Amino acid sequence: MSKILVTGGLGFIGSHTVVELQNEGFEVVIIDNLSNTTIDVLDKITSITGKEPLFEKLDLKNQPSIQEFFKKHQDVEGVIHFAASKAVGESVEKPLMYYHNNISTLIYLLEEMRTNKVNNFIFSSSCTVYGQADQMPITESAPFKTAESPYGNTKQIGEEIIADTSKVSDLKAIALRYFNPIGAHETAKIGELPIGVPQNLIPYVTQTAAGIREQLSVFGGDYPTPDGTAIRDYIHVVDLAKAHTVAMKRLLNGENNSDFEVFNIGTGKGSSVLDVIKAFENATDQKLNYKIVDRREGDITEAYADTTYAQNELKWKAELSLDDALASAWKWQKTLK
Ligand code: WQD
Repeated sequence: MSKILVTGGLGFIGSHTVVELQNEGFEVVIIDNLSNTTIDVLDKITSITGKEPLFEKLDLKNQPSIQEFFKKHQDVEGVIHFAASKAVGESVEKPLMYYHNNISTLIYLLEEMRTNKVNNFIFSSSCTVYGQADQMPITESAPFKTAESPYGNTKQIGEEIIADTSKVSDLKAIALRYFNPIGAHETAKIGELPIGVPQNLIPYVTQTAAGIREQLSVFGGDYPTPDGTAIRDYIHVVDLAKAHTVAMKRLLNGENNSDFEVFNIGTGKGSSVLDVIKAFENATDQKLNYKIVDRREGDITEAYADTTYAQNELKWKAELSLDDALASAWKWQKTLK
């Protein structure tokens, strides 16, 4: 079976994708610089699938090391690219770090793929490219809005770099625009490992329930939504991981309709922050301590996916529910020290 390179493959979404690739019989080699994860995730993946992925510790900002990589792994047939910085708030404070770490590395990787005639590429994109879309659910034809953050801008620029490159080379690429990935593998051996104070909702919820955080602040109760709190499309990370294996097979089998395709990867269902809190309390029988405070700068009111295109073209749809995801997140949280 084909050998796939997964950059950032020891991260949250990357590790779950490696598991699903191995379940599908792919051979996997991981590149990770360990800046936002730990090496023991490699053993955890191995303990889930019984197969140890190949691993190279390297930083994609070092282009010669990518050249060395492809000399050593000449049988790579496709690349799934997760490695990037992804904290929205941090990107506002450190724009140059984000443009260097997210854009330069993409360019170096694409250059080395072209030199080594590796033409199948899956890019980790985000619904953040839409900003506050005008219509719900959001389709792939919704326009890019001015990015709310340098992080979001790196996803917009990244897609444009890939689209332009695919027009003048043999590159075939798919960008998957994630909505809000949450949850953990059913074994609770891998999951989300936020470093420091969690920025995202679900790790903050589970850490509050675990007594690590005193109280969850709900950012805004005055949005124009049924209960006043903001709405997102929370997708189980395992469903998201499976979308990557499906997309890679599409390219390897030459089933793509064009050299650059984009797909919204969500559940198609919007949930408010209060919906999530209620669902968490029901799924885990845990009362959650929270209070409604002011809105967070840069947040949008509402975003949930129109998944028609992914269902028709990828023959993929999310199978797991919000309750499944929240229960898995809580099971994972309880394994953490
Ligand atoms: C979800 C909702 C918050 C924390 C961002 C990026 C996206 C992706 C996921 C990387 C919002 C509310 C949150 C808290 C809260 N990033 N919230 N209290 O902002 O939708 O998406 O993270 O891949 O690209 O844009 O996710 O989890 O931060 O927030 O009330 O302590 O929860 O206001 O409404 P977001 P989030």
